[in-house]
Amino acid sequence: MPDILLEVKDLHVNFFLTEGTVKAVNGVSFKIERGKTLGIVGESGCGKSVMARAILNMVRPPGRIVSGEINYYSQPDSPPINIASLNRNSAQVRRIRWGEIAMIFQEPMTSLSPVHTISNQMIEPIQLHLNLSKQAAKNHAVELLARVGLPNPEQLLTRYRHELSGGMRQRVMIAMALSCNPKLLIADEPTTAVDVTTQAQILNLMRGLQDEFGMAIMFITHALGVIAEIADDVVVMYLGEEVEVADVDTIFHDPSHPYTQALLRSIPRPDMKLKRLETIKGNVPDPMHLPQGCKYHPRCRYYIPTRCANPPFERVSSEHRARCARIHDIKEQLSEPTS
Ligand SMILES: Nc1ncnc2c1ncn2[C@@H]1O[C@H](COP(=O)(O)OP(=O)(O)O)[C@@H](O)[C@H]1O
Ligand SMILES: [Mg+2]
Repeated sequence: MPDILLEVKDLHVNFFLTEGTVKAVNGVSFKIERGKTLGIVGESGCGKSVMARAILNMVRPPGRIVSGEINYYSQPDSPPINIASLNRNSAQVRRIRWGEIAMIFQEPMTSLSPVHTISNQMIEPIQLHLNLSKQAAKNHAVELLARVGLPNPEQLLTRYRHELSGGMRQRVMIAMALSCNPKLLIADEPTTAVDVTTQAQILNLMRGLQDEFGMAIMFITHALGVIAEIADDVVVMYLGEEVEVADVDTIFHDPSHPYTQALLRSIPRPDMKLKRLETIKGNVPDPMHLPQGCKYHPRCRYYIPTRCANPPFERVSSEHRARCARIHDIKEQLSEPTS
């Protein structure tokens, strides 16, 4: 039996705007195993960040979790806590945020305070959550900053965010997220705002930290290439739904959903040197006016109106599912020899 840390069940998150309702997360279910990495991938606007915030019960009005469960198993044998059912500002939720589930945001510019030193932002939460003296909390902060590869950590504590490079800020965010020894680290596009070299360093760092601290990671990205580097299992999201779920090898070598296949054709791969990269035709539709039937159909090369009206979330193999009515005939088409 897999050791489940977090189980999201049929989660729905809406934003109630005067113009209409945005169904940002529209019935997503998945599990994260203790110590493993789940990759969440999908184009911008698919609901990845809203889902991440929902897991920490941080969605603010006009947004709200409307239904579903977020079951968190703090210990392997403990009964789950349904985070979705707790009050957003309750002490229990605040203890889980940071202390048990920590989050790194895409843009450290918006999550690090401009008017406080790194020390101010790091030491107090450590003191509070780990119940340490100020000096002990400072020592812990220095250790962590050194561990994430930041030189002169003592001095760095006295700095402000504008004095740091993008890569340094992201490392500070990682150190802060790890400071209370979380069991789950949610990383929302942590490498999107940094250059390719820094991206590789940060992915390496996160893998090393996972080996050392043993936390599970939920890694969110719009870049399927990054998923290959870090994930064990993958959820592909499109317009608030998961369209394909499988282990990382299956996603790359035997994808079933046309959207996953299109994402794969749009990333450079060493075995496809001579082929031209494709972009997915069209854009992600306006979520206020969701397409009827299969939400991907306006962009799908396999769309047949009658067949695709109500795509099932079909089991391809035991841990592999895809939300597509045409999985089997697409497979046949793909396996036909091409001249
Ligand atoms: N505060 C908000 N108010 C209204 N709509 C929002 C808000 N936050 C997110 N959304 C909408 O929810 C959808 C999903 O957004 P998001 O989770 O940020 O996508 P992703 O992270 O995959 O790029 C988008 O259509 C976005 O416009
Ligand atoms: Mg996002």
